[in-house]
Amino acid sequence: MNIILLKVAAAVLLCALVEAKSVIVPGALLYDTDGDEIQAHGAGILQVGTTFYWFGEDKADNSALFSGVTCYTSTDLVNWERQNDALTPISGTNISSLDIVERPKVIYNEQNEQYVMWFHSDNSDYGLAMVGVATADTPCGPYSYRGSFSPLGAQSRDESVFQDVDTDKTAYLLYASDNNQDFKIAKMDANYYNVTEVVAEMTGATLEAPGMLKRDGVYWLFASHTSGWAPNPNKYFYADSTSGPWSSQADIAPEDTNTYCSQNAYDLPLGSNAIYMGDRWDSSLLGNSRYTWYPLSWSSGDPQIVYADLWKVDYSAGTYTVVNGTAYAAQDGTLGGSAVLLGSDSTYNGYEGVGYLGSGGTLSINVNGIGAEQWVSLYYANGDSSWRNTTISVNGGDSVVVDQPDTGGSHVILSAPVLLYLEEGTNTLLIGADQSNYAGDMYQIVVYEET
Ligand SMILES: *[C@@H]1O[C@H](CO)[C@@H](O)[C@H](O)[C@H]1NC(C)=O
Ligand SMILES: *[C@@H]1O[C@H](CO)[C@@H](O)[C@H](O)[C@H]1NC(C)=O
Ligand SMILES: *[C@@H]1O[C@H](CO)[C@@H](O)[C@H](O)[C@H]1NC(C)=O
Ligand SMILES: *[C@@H]1O[C@H](CO)[C@@H](O)[C@H](O)[C@H]1NC(C)=O
Repeated sequence: MNIILLKVAAAVLLCALVEAKSVIVPGALLYDTDGDEIQAHGAGILQVGTTFYWFGEDKADNSALFSGVTCYTSTDLVNWERQNDALTPISGTNISSLDIVERPKVIYNEQNEQYVMWFHSDNSDYGLAMVGVATADTPCGPYSYRGSFSPLGAQSRDESVFQDVDTDKTAYLLYASDNNQDFKIAKMDANYYNVTEVVAEMTGATLEAPGMLKRDGVYWLFASHTSGWAPNPNKYFYADSTSGPWSSQADIAPEDTNTYCSQNAYDLPLGSNAIYMGDRWDSSLLGNSRYTWYPLSWSSGDPQIVYADLWKVDYSAGTYTVVNGTAYAAQDGTLGGSAVLLGSDSTYNGYEGVGYLGSGGTLSINVNGIGAEQWVSLYYANGDSSWRNTTISVNGGDSVVVDQPDTGGSHVILSAPVLLYLEEGTNTLLIGADQSNYAGDMYQIVVYEET
């Protein structure tokens, strides 16, 4: 009795420690309502009533091999609670822990009152190139594996599903086929267990990481090109029918940012706009890959990612709000050691960047705080194809390491978020100390009040 009471008290205390969040922070490490890192890469979203289910790949062990399809629930798309795993390895089948299961997507089959999961099913060298199907009576399952197969006899690697909820709920498989050369859209059977015919084929399109949504009767397809774990400029296409004809491709973000260092995973309608849900893969440490969810706005007429450090979503209103912070130019700080100003050819918002940070170079800068944990965004450039990092400390405290993924070019500037406790009033941030490696070039520090 006493032990049970103690456990309840401990659980209540733990819950109280994990405060509800109000903002989406693209590129941050995300934590669930238990305070554990969210592992749900290659996301698929399912909405049931007012609850969202987020399915994804668990890469906590930093391996590409299958360890589980996770299932998280949320009613606000910001605070996520981990549920039981939806699918786990089955030895002796094509979804054993030595195989590949990627990009799980779930749709509901009304006729059978059944949830149907489709995923990329492969062996460890990606040579089998199949799709897998599993079913369950509840959204998180656990799902029963039906099998893996080659749709209509052809290869299928990256895939997604699209259900035309406005019409007769016809569902489609969207997949990279024929050695990732041809992109295909195939109609599913009434059970959503198989595909019956290819309705559109984009020959030689070399697309992967697809997603589709319908907006005002027009179908929008999103996909990346093929460059392994490295990001590339993701594209959109549109058509009046899933069978096409599909438009030519166009970028969803400035080309030189490689889709703000990300790859499409899912595209969730939000009012007259959408949410782009991407992955920022860390190929050397897969479990450290980040979720890059951004508003996808049609305000210019075409879908474009709205780059934001922090933003809020109101799903039922169909709106998003970009959160503003206070910006500090790196050049206004105090440079130490080998750190240098980069000159008028390397500017952001009209301010010069600071180079040669780390390995003896430091930048000290004063910012205002409100006496709370606050998001701080570091605007940097890293033209390497691998990730860099920098250290940051507050008021002489311990340094924390902030990852600096590839920005796409030495003059392309992206931001990396870090949550820091700032005192009320002036705080001194020290960047680049205690690291022997070189950091990316630093341009701007933005401090936010929302968490
Ligand atoms: C995996 O799928 C392939 C192709 O269908 C099949 O030949 C093989 O027997 C399957 N492996 C297992 C362990 O079921
Ligand atoms: C899918 O349908 C095709 C015929 O179009 C059939 O050959 C194949 O066996 C079916 N696959 C499964 C897994 O039911
Ligand atoms: C943020 O700043 C922009 C540009 O100044 C402004 O249009 C927008 O309304 C601001 N957002 C909020 C939430 O204040
Ligand atoms: C920081 O980046 C360097 C390469 O520049 C890497 O060797 C090191 O492991 C990284 N440190 C952390 C903590 O990620």
